[in-house]
Amino acid sequence: MLEIGAGAGRFTQILAGLGAQVLVADPSPGQLALNRQFARAHGFAQAVPVWQQADICDLSYFGPDTFDAVVACGGPFSYVVDERDVALQECLRVLRGQV
Ligand SMILES: C[S@@+](CC[C@H](N)C(=O)[O-])C[C@H]1O[C@@H](n2cnc3c(N)ncnc32)[C@H](O)[C@@H]1O
Repeated sequence: MLEIGAGAGRFTQILAGLGAQVLVADPSPGQLALNRQFARAHGFAQAVPVWQQADICDLSYFGPDTFDAVVACGGPFSYVVDERDVALQECLRVLRGQV
């Protein structure tokens, strides 16, 4: 699955605990570094194949139909409220079975 706007990883940990493989994405290199550090410290880094810098309005790094699930917990849409339709379209584009 894709977790966009993952931040420091409180939801990444929960998703990993549920058995998901979580591609962690965030536009902030600092947040990605915190997420990686948190995952290593709490023993769930194996559930994260990649920590990728990405913006919810531009997920072009990922092809269409890539993920079984996309989550954006805790605020990513609120940061781009004026572009929310673009952000939603991007999330749907990379979600499997939506095109
Ligand atoms: C309040 S934090 C929430 C982090 C995490 N999802 C949580 O609930 O703990 C918001 C996150 O959204 C990220 N963010 C800000 N603008 C974004 C954008 N345009 N696309 C994706 N994520 C964004 C921030 O870098 C930050 O990591």
